[in-house]
Amino acid sequence: MSQTPNHIAIVMDGNGRWASKRFLPRIAGHKQGVDSLRRCVKACADRGVAILTVFAFSSENWNRPIEEVSGLMDLFAMALTREVPNLKADGVQIHFIGERKALSPKVLAGIGLAEFDTAKNSRLILNICFNYGGRWDIAQAAAKLAAQGQAITESSLNSAMALAHVPDPDLVIRTGSEQRISNFLLWQSAYSEFIFSDKLWPEFDENALDDAIAEFSGRERRFGQTSGQLLAKKPSTVPN
Ligand code: FPP
Repeated sequence: MSQTPNHIAIVMDGNGRWASKRFLPRIAGHKQGVDSLRRCVKACADRGVAILTVFAFSSENWNRPIEEVSGLMDLFAMALTREVPNLKADGVQIHFIGERKALSPKVLAGIGLAEFDTAKNSRLILNICFNYGGRWDIAQAAAKLAAQGQAITESSLNSAMALAHVPDPDLVIRTGSEQRISNFLLWQSAYSEFIFSDKLWPEFDENALDDAIAEFSGRERRFGQTSGQLLAKKPSTVPN
């Protein structure tokens, strides 16, 4: 029996290579990446995934050529205007996760509207990590606690993190053949299962998602315990 992960997180890698293989500018790959994300959101909702978290722009992506960074910012603002009404109608609740200070007024306005317009939805939570880094998140959580004079513990840090509104991801998928974490969900992926796909992000379709879910279903999640201990326990007593 296939077990659907409650929370899937994705590093959407390979847009640039998808475009280069077709002699297209890199931004054409990112545009195709938006189409792939739209398809993936729908597929996750249809399969009963409750939370989808995607890495759309990392703190380190500012170091890309200026044309690519400004192309990504424009694409992001345009995609928000175009996609949010449909996402709202489909019951998706959108959250933006990341440092907002460096973002343009246009992008900030789009983010604010998307979050406001979809706040009452509950079919699928979509977290879009934008100007995000896992180290930034841990540092901002610690700084917040320090400013409030609170003790820094696993539990207090957990509740100060940018993803405090959702449980940790069960499954982290990275497309595009690379096998690294690239500063994504460093804190939250402590017990996630990882699947690395050779497909470039624009090629990651419903079948690829189903393959990943099937592979996830076959994994034994031990959370530091032994197989024997898990067998002796009811599944509901295993933390997720
Ligand atoms: C990584 O591929 C992809 C990105 C840095 C951007 C991902 C962004 C999107 C899919 C668009 C998201 C839009 C919205 C509205 C959320 P890469 O450029 O590193 O590819 P490469 O490894 O082949 O060069």
